[in-house]
Amino acid sequence: LPVDPFDLVIFGGTGDLALRKLLPAMFHRFVDGQVPAASRIIGVAREGLDDAGYRSLVRDVLADGGGASDRIEAFLPLLRYLPLDARKDEGWEAFAALVDEQPEHIRVFYLSTSPELFVDICNRLGSHGLNGPNSRVVLEKPIGRDLASAMCIIEAVGRVFSETQTFRIDHYLGKETVQNLLALRFGNALFEPLWNAGHIDHVQITVAETLGLGRRAGYYDRAGALRDMVQNHMLQLLCMVAMEPPASLAPDAVRDEKLKVLHALKPVDMRNVAQLTVRGQYKAGAIDGERVPGYLEELDDGHSNTETFVALKAEIANWRWAGVPFYLRTGKRLATRLSEIVVAFKSVPHSIFDASAGPLAHNRLVLRLQPDEGVKLWLTIKHPGPGGLRLRHVPLDMSFAEAFGVQQPDAYERLLLDVVRGNPTLFMRRDEVEAAWRWIDPILAAWGAAGEPPRPYAAGSWGPSAAVALIERDGRTWNEDS
Ligand code: BG6
Repeated sequence: LPVDPFDLVIFGGTGDLALRKLLPAMFHRFVDGQVPAASRIIGVAREGLDDAGYRSLVRDVLADGGGASDRIEAFLPLLRYLPLDARKDEGWEAFAALVDEQPEHIRVFYLSTSPELFVDICNRLGSHGLNGPNSRVVLEKPIGRDLASAMCIIEAVGRVFSETQTFRIDHYLGKETVQNLLALRFGNALFEPLWNAGHIDHVQITVAETLGLGRRAGYYDRAGALRDMVQNHMLQLLCMVAMEPPASLAPDAVRDEKLKVLHALKPVDMRNVAQLTVRGQYKAGAIDGERVPGYLEELDDGHSNTETFVALKAEIANWRWAGVPFYLRTGKRLATRLSEIVVAFKSVPHSIFDASAGPLAHNRLVLRLQPDEGVKLWLTIKHPGPGGLRLRHVPLDMSFAEAFGVQQPDAYERLLLDVVRGNPTLFMRRDEVEAAWRWIDPILAAWGAAGEPPRPYAAGSWGPSAAVALIERDGRTWNEDS
């Protein structure tokens, strides 16, 4: 759907997220004709660039990403740049004047900065009158570093922008497969009757990355994998799998159901943290045959207890999910880039087959988020041909790219335009963010009290062996059939 011309202001406009995700997302929407040419994208950061310098930086990024040069040249005039330090007064008058050049435009202020700057930036936006009804603010995760700091930020931002103007982004909610989970669960009669502790043995959620720290050491080393990935993306995925059917797709209908799941998570704290969680940190290793340095070698001072890997076992204490473990794992510098949700069903109650038929396996529904988004349903069938009844485990396999012949849009493409349209369904409501921190805080506290260093794992592996033990102790294994 087309939108009216708008202004997107990116604070942190030269940062990793802006260059890797936000600007390419805008470019792709522009190429598809969804970003009107009168729109403006204003990069703001401390670097002393001008419009030309910024355009040339973005030109290189888009060209590296394979953008056609005539399209890139058509896109670049939308870009503006203003040097600004969120903590200093100078430059804000000029900034406000630049934004005010287009009073009719919807204004999206995207705070792709450290959360410590959110309040300063919002206060200044407010004091320059830039928080009117056509303004929206987008907050990148993680919001804060624990519940208390998150609440301070949320309240301070809330004094400048109303809840309907505030978009707390979790880009995992914009991924096609995650939205497809809604279609799959609630658009088919097949799954929902089985979607409970009576039929599901366990759920696995894996988000594995091959990337290391890159340019983000300053942020990442203070955050770690639990804050960076679990508090937001992983818990949001868990909510989408576990929530009760919402009555509609109205923003609050969906968010109310997700919130109930967060409230029902069983606490993980001092008493059980050692059994239920594993933290790891990568050492040097090889990924796709290429040597990569260890985490500590990527840091300036070479010291850190920050985890780059987390595995944990969560449980949802409610009627639907009692006793069904949700195993979560995420890490940097793992063997391959892979994100998936695996719903493992219980085995049949009784086998009618001889032992010679081979073992009966569980049905598994695998939702692949990346790379190659798609859905696989593992079934047991008879091996074709004579030679008796031998059982085989095979997938019904659907790749979205093959089935629909289109490149899947990046999550940010969808979400940025949702902000312009004012649709908050795929954004986190304040109480969701708080509930997620409420569950995460005791884990952080228990880790802090235990004071143990993260377990080492080689870059290019699947994390510390303790993560394998976490699930194998329960007689289960991480999915390897993707
Ligand atoms: C971000 C995290 O939110 O998500 C990064 O801060 C991580 O550390 C990224 O690399 C992963 O996103 P995606 O879409 O590449 O899986």
